[in-house]
Amino acid sequence: MVDIDARQRLKLLAGAASAALWGCSGGGGGSDMGPVTPSPTPPTPTGFQPSDGLLRNTFRNNFTVGAAVQTSQVSNNSAISDIVTSQFNTIVSEFEMQPNIIAPTEGMFDFSAGDELVQYAEDNGLEIHGHSLLWHEITPDYFFEGTRDEIKARLQNYVTTVVSHFRGKISVWYALNEVVDSTGVGTTLPYRNSNWYQAAGGPEYIDWVLEAARAADPDAKLYINEYTTELPNKRARLIQVVEDLVARDIPLDGVGHQCHLILQDTAQSVLDAIDAVDGLFAGLSNRITELDVSVYSDPGSCWENGTNCDADYGSNIPESVLDSQAQLLRELFNGLILKSSLDSVTFWGVSDRDSWLNTSPVTRSNYPLLYDRNLNVKTGFRAITDRNFVI
Ligand code: XIL
Repeated sequence: MVDIDARQRLKLLAGAASAALWGCSGGGGGSDMGPVTPSPTPPTPTGFQPSDGLLRNTFRNNFTVGAAVQTSQVSNNSAISDIVTSQFNTIVSEFEMQPNIIAPTEGMFDFSAGDELVQYAEDNGLEIHGHSLLWHEITPDYFFEGTRDEIKARLQNYVTTVVSHFRGKISVWYALNEVVDSTGVGTTLPYRNSNWYQAAGGPEYIDWVLEAARAADPDAKLYINEYTTELPNKRARLIQVVEDLVARDIPLDGVGHQCHLILQDTAQSVLDAIDAVDGLFAGLSNRITELDVSVYSDPGSCWENGTNCDADYGSNIPESVLDSQAQLLRELFNGLILKSSLDSVTFWGVSDRDSWLNTSPVTRSNYPLLYDRNLNVKTGFRAITDRNFVI
């Protein structure tokens, strides 16, 4: 508790320092900044502090900036690796620390891909986060077999083995992925009516994961990770779940907001989600864990059964669409830098070429990230790293 308070105070101070810098003219480096004359009224923050144009430096006083990567993408000094090591200071495994990769069959643990990524992070001075310990998707069937006690023991053993293996190396676990209901109906509210809920006969599996993870590595930060926290109803259910965990003293350090956004989303809705967690006054941190901005705004049916999806832009993405994306990102980061409880922002990938949104919900060219298919920076990148850049 003392640590969190101290850290948050430091961040507030850092925020005040950034606000002071906003009063200086010009961007693109600190060399043209003369002595700062104290001003009687603090300047209104209108953009980002001067930086060298690198993502991680732009936000160095505010939060870490990360990218989800796959082991094969960053091995062998690839072009993606050059971007990752220069622009970001954290990485997260896009899928290689999930149960289907680590424990595809019962009793067998394969950490090779995860270990490679941990080594890569260590070699390049990057912090690495783990994603995830429990999800209702991509979990081998055997996890759900047997009695409730057997299921509990198996899950606890899995979490203990994985977190112990990465102890001291993975500083943050997005432990629970998507356990909150998204439908608004049913008897399991506010929890998702998932395979895990059914197998445990209730939400107790959430406690099992968090308690086992805390015991295996008391220093690792544990997060509950959720999508569409920008939507008020979903957010309210998430807050209900979090509040209950806090009230019962179940180990939890913070909330991950996935932030798979669409162009119609507003920055304010994301900021509201952070405020809702802060409003619990429980000393929890916030993280943006899977940020991307899709250029499509499909109806639910597209995600459910692939119908009525927006038409594919193919390779002809209009500039105006990328400008709207950049505008949303700028507004979002302008707000995020003022949130003292926000520890980290991670993009769900580096380049449009590799995004999961090219195949989900349907196969189609999407443009959700900061780098284009040729690994050039997009308008969105410039919008958030250069406050003088005109969109
Ligand atoms: C996507 C990934 O990009 C894939 O590599 C993965 O195997 C499954 O889908 N919410 C999540 C991520 O928590 O794990 C999803 O990742 C995107 C939605």
